[in-house]
Amino acid sequence: MREACIQSLERGRTSYTSNYGLQELRDAISAYLFNQEKLEYNPDDQILITVGVSEAMDLVMRALLNPGEEVICPEPCYVSYKPCILFAGGVPVSIPTTTETEFCVEPEKIRAAITPKTKALLISYPSNPTGAVAPRKTLEKIVAIAKEHDLYIITDEIYDRLSYDAPHTCVPALSGAYERTIYLNGFSKAYAMTGWRIGYAAGPADIIEAMMKIHQYTMLCAPIMGQIAALEAINNGYDDSQQMIDQYAQRRRVIVKGLNEAGLPCLMPGGAFYAFPSIKETGLNSNDFSERLLFEEKVVVVPGNAFGDCGEGHVRCSYATSIEKIEQAMQRIARFVKKFS
Ligand SMILES: Cc1ncc(COP(=O)(O)O)c(C=O)c1O
Repeated sequence: MREACIQSLERGRTSYTSNYGLQELRDAISAYLFNQEKLEYNPDDQILITVGVSEAMDLVMRALLNPGEEVICPEPCYVSYKPCILFAGGVPVSIPTTTETEFCVEPEKIRAAITPKTKALLISYPSNPTGAVAPRKTLEKIVAIAKEHDLYIITDEIYDRLSYDAPHTCVPALSGAYERTIYLNGFSKAYAMTGWRIGYAAGPADIIEAMMKIHQYTMLCAPIMGQIAALEAINNGYDDSQQMIDQYAQRRRVIVKGLNEAGLPCLMPGGAFYAFPSIKETGLNSNDFSERLLFEEKVVVVPGNAFGDCGEGHVRCSYATSIEKIEQAMQRIARFVKKFS
């Protein structure tokens, strides 16, 4: 990816691209989604290249929501969801999840949260911060509810390739989902390309056009260098990234074992690269635990309540680092937890 970018820079490819993004990249994403999921997205008007999924999330909210319209979102969830809904004048409606359902949303709770103002459901599996993966049946039920109430589905599938125990379920590929789903994905996680800032949205042409209009006046286009590197990733990076993903699967077992042995009960995450242990037995809240662990043991975790109130009593631990570092962190966490036993 780096080589592709350097070579294209040396050839002077430093211009703007189409507002929708480089045609070659949209063609490649369209072909990829067809090969992987049999999804047909027209690269001319159904795919928009964005500055990461972060921008795509902001655009989709601003394109869809009228003031006061509600978006239902299971929590704990990624930190930007609520702010993006609020920036767009919408109202986030949280559905708390807990370890009892392995942090997977119960479809009936979604149904119970629907009001005349509900516009969309926002889901993201595998989940940041919990690593939860929703079973296919659960997602099918969610799609059926969206259909019944004529709601949009926004699905952030940035961790799709990091699904360890079961094949990933792609929401727009489920029966009845395609025409009401805005699918978000990107290159940050599966290809470890966070700094290149390339994501994309795929969905109904009218919604993608509305998103493109906001994108055109705020970003103009995603940077061409990142788009060229992403094109290389999607065309030639799949197998290399699979090696990295296999590594994550091993690290996942090391971190979960280490946390449980340290006295922090932790479920085995089905996807992404986060473990979300309970810290309740220490008697500390999530913020105090995280701050003290940082200062006393130089280990960084994120307080669970950063991802929604129901994340209180947990912390998020990333295992996107080497096994050696994970093992060292586990020893330090065990030493820290002992202080409270
Ligand atoms: C669930 C989820 N969505 C979106 C993002 C942002 O991704 P990007 O780098 O594509 O903006 C992240 C980054 O951590 C994430 O975890």
